[in-house]
Amino acid sequence: EKGGFDHFMLKEIYEQPRSIKDCMRGRIYPEEGKVQLGGIKEFAEKLKNIDRIIIVACGTSWHAGLVGEYLIEEYARIPVEVEYASEFRYRNPIITEKDVVIAISQSGETADTMAAIEMAKERGATIFGICNVAGASIPRLTHAGVYTHAGPEIGVASTKAFTAQVTVLTLMAFYMAQQKGTITTSKLIELLTELDHIPEKIQVALASNDLIKEVAEKIKDSTNCLFLGRGSGFPVALEGALKLKEISYIHAEGYPAAEMKHGPIALIDEEMPVVFIATQNSSYEKVISNIQEVKARKGKVIAIVTQGDTEVKKMADYCIEIPDANEAFLPLLATIPLQLLSYHIAVMRGCNVDQPRNLAKSVTVE
Ligand code: F6R
Repeated sequence: EKGGFDHFMLKEIYEQPRSIKDCMRGRIYPEEGKVQLGGIKEFAEKLKNIDRIIIVACGTSWHAGLVGEYLIEEYARIPVEVEYASEFRYRNPIITEKDVVIAISQSGETADTMAAIEMAKERGATIFGICNVAGASIPRLTHAGVYTHAGPEIGVASTKAFTAQVTVLTLMAFYMAQQKGTITTSKLIELLTELDHIPEKIQVALASNDLIKEVAEKIKDSTNCLFLGRGSGFPVALEGALKLKEISYIHAEGYPAAEMKHGPIALIDEEMPVVFIATQNSSYEKVISNIQEVKARKGKVIAIVTQGDTEVKKMADYCIEIPDANEAFLPLLATIPLQLLSYHIAVMRGCNVDQPRNLAKSVTVE
């Protein structure tokens, strides 16, 4: 049932080229530059005039929401707020009939996310769901939604469900942009053509597994680890840190790279591994100066870089390459090596990767 893999988590990491393909099937038409999302199509007109989107979720799904914020604001130019469901439900938020709330949940059973949906619904908002488990409670509570189609996720630490959520949010961002006219058809053709090939690029990212294992060996005995990124690399850093702490029990924190000098930099010494999302995109030069700041304090730098990079390689202790891609698709690719890194570290530390202590696959109590 683990398909020859030692753990469900590893099997699910390797399933991602396929799960992302399944998630896009019948939804993207690259030659026409068109996105179709049957699940939300009855709201196509409404999407032209919404003032704001609020994304509610917990944990890894909340990280997917942060990626969604970048994409929706960039392409559809709709303001987005991303909230922890548990905070949102208890703070008397301002919600109107003009708001669209997107609830993201792998299991579709998370208690706080359900309560947030119910509250927003009472106040008149339109609720979309992004769920993996068909027929779960959340899809039944929402007005409309888009399934991630990642297939059953058994490992408690979310991997393929996360990248499928990010894929759906990417499709939603493009769909909204298409409805609102904030994107040209030629731009959509270009983006969708590239998105269509992301599964193959994920396959390439997975091929660094042996190298990632070597890096894991070097940092497995650390007690702390920092993950830093900018732009959409920031939620990737948060997700990398969450994966590491939940399965290896190493204390890890994700930060926007520029925030490092406002506090966390005090932690850096030769014992501190710092994982950077340092791919060649709009924040590349800025991230390089953040890497220099860490090296100047003798921190150990592990960098996720674009294939063929030479600049970061001069500074970092270890570089893990991912294929070049439009910035919009960076989270889908940069997440892969971080999943593998956490997995190998946890295995080397003798942890129960599929069922980490104190965690449950669906959190049905608040
Ligand atoms: C982390 C993880 C959790 C879940 C969170 C929300 O790997 O799996 O953080 O993401 O409990 O669960 P869902 O998405 O089922 O609502």
